[in-house]
Order: sequence, then structure tokens, then C-alpha cells
Amino acid sequence: MQVNISILVENTTPIPALTGEYGFSALISIDGRKILFDTGSADALFHNARQMGIKLEEVSDLLISHGHFDHTSGMLALCSDFGGKRIFTHPNIFADKSILSSRGDIRKIGVPFSKQELLDAGAEFVFVDKFCEILPGVFISGEIPRKNEFEDTGGNFRIQAGNELVVDELLDDMALIIDHPDGLIIVSGCAHAGIINTIDYACKMTSRSKILAFVGGTHLINASEERMSRTISAIKEMDIEKIAVGHCTGFYAAARLYNELGSRLVKADTGMTFRF
Ligand SMILES: [Fe+2]
Ligand SMILES: [Fe+2]
Repeated sequence: MQVNISILVENTTPIPALTGEYGFSALISIDGRKILFDTGSADALFHNARQMGIKLEEVSDLLISHGHFDHTSGMLALCSDFGGKRIFTHPNIFADKSILSSRGDIRKIGVPFSKQELLDAGAEFVFVDKFCEILPGVFISGEIPRKNEFEDTGGNFRIQAGNELVVDELLDDMALIIDHPDGLIIVSGCAHAGIINTIDYACKMTSRSKILAFVGGTHLINASEERMSRTISAIKEMDIEKIAVGHCTGFYAAARLYNELGSRLVKADTGMTFRF
């Protein structure tokens, strides 16, 4: 099995020809079959794909990790300009999602268009909420059980439930899991379920303990000292070769992880490709 993961959208890039954009998107090629994972927060996906020689019309399947704008905003243009895609995602992504700021303001952070607009652009939805295999050896986590009390969604996320604004537990947060002969490869958008919960669940459902790589966002940007130290202890107990973090990991959490894990930790920037 040959797996390439190219980061098309991440907050930053050291490459002048590319654009950094708040959000995440990665092209995952598995034995030549191309799956797009998330779509960023605006249009960097399209510019960066052109610059990196990636043909988005060759992508047949899209996985959306959860219903926040910084992972979903390229969906409509992707479907209308590059052919309708089959979109694997959780049924909750179209819920009315928001975030409560420290000043008490509510800001909408959900998908910036309707399901109908996407259907009209040629999208075909496959809604999943349970662990499932989408290609031989390639799985979507489904909803990830929240087992570790030191992990939470990472922010004051809210969701509209009838007339009430309630806490959004981000049950729609899902990861892609590739059962590579050398170990699991886990790709995450924001890991609102918690990075350790996500890795633990991937291992449990595949009955594997060797992890080749975790790639993506971790939402440790606001993590407490206790959460950071318990996360690092848990990672140190795992058999994991590479952790490529970006997006909502934040500079200080990434630096802390690097100090503790050394060369196993990589900051995933726009334009990087990982080969397994
Ligand atoms: Fe995010
Ligand atoms: Fe998010």
C-alpha cells in the first residue's frame, strides 16, 4: 500500500508560491486513488492545488471531518467547478453551529451554504456516524467515544437546538483511518473529540497498536497545562512514529510537543507531502 498525504490548506506556509489559510485540507492518495479530506475556509485550496500540480477533477471522494467553516468552505466551488463529488460526512454538519467568545459574543462558524446548494452543484452525500470501511483498508471513524476526562472539544462551541443555544459536543468530528501494513495512518481535521480519544478509538476498531502517523489538527490551542501534560504522557506510551500537527494545534502546543517528542513531531504546513 502506497499512501501520500499532501497538505493543501493549513494556516501557514513557508513556500512563497502557496497561500496559507486558516483551516485544513489534505489530498490523500492511496495506491493512486485520491480522496480529499476537508476543504479549507476560503479558496486557497484551488490556488494551492494548481501550484502543487494536483488535479482536483481526479478526486472522486471527499471526506468532511466536521461542520465548521474552516473545513467546509471549499465544498461548493469544488463540486461546481471540478465535477460533483461523493461526500462522506456526518449528518450533523449542517447544524447551526457557533462559538461563544470570551466577551460573550456569538459568532456563526458552521457550513456557509445549504445542503441543497451542494446537491444542486452535483454533490452526492453519504452520511455516516459509525465506524465504516470506505475502501479496502480505509475507514471513517464515525463518532468517536469521549473516554478521557482530560480532553474536551477545545472551545466554547455552541449549536442551535430548537429555540435554545446549547453546548456543541461536536459529535460530527470524525477522522480518516488507513490500515497501512506498517501501522495506522490517522488524519484528523480538528480532533474536537481529543487527539488521544481519536487515536485510542482508531486502534481499538482496527485491533492495531502500531501507529505510523497522526496528521492534522489537534485543537490543543487553548489546552490547559494539565491537558497538555496528560496528552504528552499518553502519546509517550503509544507506539507512534510521526505526529504531524497543524491548524488548531497552535504554536505553543506544537512547540511543547516538539520539545517532548523531538523529531517524531513535525509542524504540518501548507505544501508538505508525507509518503508512507
Ligand atoms: Fe478547525
Ligand atoms: Fe473545528
